[in-house]
Amino acid sequence: MPDKKTKIILSIETSCDETAIAVLKCSGNIKKPIFKIIANEVSSQIKIHRPFGGVVPNLAKREHIKNLPKIYQKIKKEVVGLERKIDLVSVTVGPGLEPALWTGITFAQDLAQKIKKPLIGANHMEGHLFGFLLSEQENKLDFPAIGLVVSGGHTVLLKMTSLTKWEKLGETVDDAVGEAFDKVARILDLPYPGGPEIERLALSLPKGEKPSINFPRPMLNQHNYDFSFSGLKTSVLYYLRDNPKTNKANIAASFQQAAIDVLTKKAMKAAEEFSAKSIILCGGVACNKTLRETIRKESEKRGLSFFAPEMKFNTDNAAMIGAATYIHILAKKKSLKIEADSTLNL
Ligand code: KG4
Ligand code: ZN
Repeated sequence: MPDKKTKIILSIETSCDETAIAVLKCSGNIKKPIFKIIANEVSSQIKIHRPFGGVVPNLAKREHIKNLPKIYQKIKKEVVGLERKIDLVSVTVGPGLEPALWTGITFAQDLAQKIKKPLIGANHMEGHLFGFLLSEQENKLDFPAIGLVVSGGHTVLLKMTSLTKWEKLGETVDDAVGEAFDKVARILDLPYPGGPEIERLALSLPKGEKPSINFPRPMLNQHNYDFSFSGLKTSVLYYLRDNPKTNKANIAASFQQAAIDVLTKKAMKAAEEFSAKSIILCGGVACNKTLRETIRKESEKRGLSFFAPEMKFNTDNAAMIGAATYIHILAKKKSLKIEADSTLNL
């Protein structure tokens, strides 16, 4: 007999340019939530948005409308008796692109009504934050923990005293770090999304050669936990304008190093100030191996346990939305309104 708390959650994510549906078996308690992935489908729209150099909201909406029924049918084939098994449906209500969010919400409302199951709204950023729980963890998550959410839309530093209680220490005052990667990629004539392209170009710097351009480390020495990446991006623009012959791999690696330095130093400063025992790194930019390894090493040096989602759960997916929904239920937090909230935060 499954215990009373075991829930099968079907989750839907359409906040940006990935259409995703997942089915998760969720059990355990808030001290040790357990997730088993029954199905997890992500359909990326990168190729569609690439010619425009970024995500076009109305194109994203059109693609989500087209993809959602297809993905749902695929999952229905994968999971025998799917509609009987689902206990509840959850959907990202924000933050994200409003037209894109609404497509997921409308689809989820129709589905929940059809199969007569409750519908719960989920916060996309909580999804990123809890993505690491989808995989088996080597270390025990002890609190306080510092959470660093680094995505295309956000850069947030949190102090967490449990999985359900946190305080925002700081966030970006202008561009998100992922946005800076994307914009610098455009400056360097690299395709969208720029993060992975910058990382690839940075890694092409010959072995033994270090990034040598000293780009600014914005807000590094300020006594707060806010970030700013817009000036760093502009410095890259001016540097290339004034030094057009510079090796682009050196520019990419130097920019990446500046961004990583700021993120790492601020996260470690917070860890020291609040005597943290763990660090959680998450969001699309957490795919960056140099960032991951730098924060892992710096954490281990200080005796902190390091947590980050598996690579496939860093960028947008619906499994993380299912995990966030289960944590939300366990925490007995107030339900989110079932309507698109593009500015929802942590
Ligand atoms: O979390 P995510 O999939 O979407 C948002 O919620 O924003 O993050 C997407 C962001 C993009 O800005 C993308 O360029 C960045 O994550 N990104 C990376 C890497 N992979 C994705 N940034 C740096 N290095 C990467 N390897
Ligand atoms: Zn995201």
